[in-house]
Amino acid sequence: MLELQGLRQTFNPGTVNEVRALQGVDLTLDEGSFIVVLGTNGSGKSTLLNAVAGSFFVDEGRIRLDGHDVTRWPEHRRASLIGRVFQNPFSGTAPGMSIAENFALAARRGRARGLGWALAPDLMGALRERVAGLRMGLENRLDNAIGSLSGGQRQALTLLMATWLRPRLLLLDEHTAALDPKSADQVISLSDEVIRRDGLTTLMVTHSMAQAVAYGDRIIMMHRGQVVHDFRGAEKRRLRQEDLIDRFDEIRRREQLDEGAAAMLRELYV
Ligand SMILES: Nc1ncnc2c1ncn2[C@@H]1O[C@H](COP(=O)(O)OP(=O)(O)O)[C@@H](O)[C@H]1O
Ligand SMILES: [Mg+2]
Repeated sequence: MLELQGLRQTFNPGTVNEVRALQGVDLTLDEGSFIVVLGTNGSGKSTLLNAVAGSFFVDEGRIRLDGHDVTRWPEHRRASLIGRVFQNPFSGTAPGMSIAENFALAARRGRARGLGWALAPDLMGALRERVAGLRMGLENRLDNAIGSLSGGQRQALTLLMATWLRPRLLLLDEHTAALDPKSADQVISLSDEVIRRDGLTTLMVTHSMAQAVAYGDRIIMMHRGQVVHDFRGAEKRRLRQEDLIDRFDEIRRREQLDEGAAAMLRELYV
């Protein structure tokens, strides 16, 4: 379904701000798999998702999606296959436009423009039904501006929009991180429901160990632009939060050892 081969990406190469954000990522996602992506800050999680979505062209490597080599496809072309939800409830929607208008836009993703803002009546009915399913009372507020809603309501709607056309791949980047705990719970269980119902192949970045153990069928852990752990099948199902914390501690310890060794070498060679 999604196949990443040897992805490398360096930002600001050759400058003091050089960052090797991806340092050889190989990853294959089976159709319908739901992968949770964990990793320390700056380990390359968002960069990985952005590389797949086409926010930039990778320096090296191949990206195959749904049978296409999309490595050199521009972002808007990949958007016909990909649904995305970001951390910020204010991105991904047009705040001044109504709920219905935003859905009209989403329904045209990757298609011809210039069809007007209105949703066809049958789509409007389907939309009202789906929004009612959120049990947030928004089905009677379809004409309200998206900008007038709470963060949780917006993320729930953004998720519905991103999955409206059953994308071949769903990318969620810490999409509950900016929400209060109750809204975060609502949005994560809604996500799980939609992903399972439609069998969506999904990459979900989170910093929540609780979410990582409770959701998905595979966990990858990133560090310094590489995948350093990959838990799947029975191993994933058995995994507890403490196991994940242990793995993070291990990474941190190794890091300190590396730094210690580097400091010793510096002393030896000055
Ligand atoms: N567009 C960019 N330009 C320059 N540096 C970037 C860019 N995007 C990410 N980085 C850097 O790449 C590294 C990995 O970032 P990111 O993938 O956002 O980490 P994560 O999502 O795991 O916290 C960080 O050091 C970050 O500052
Ligand atoms: Mg990130």
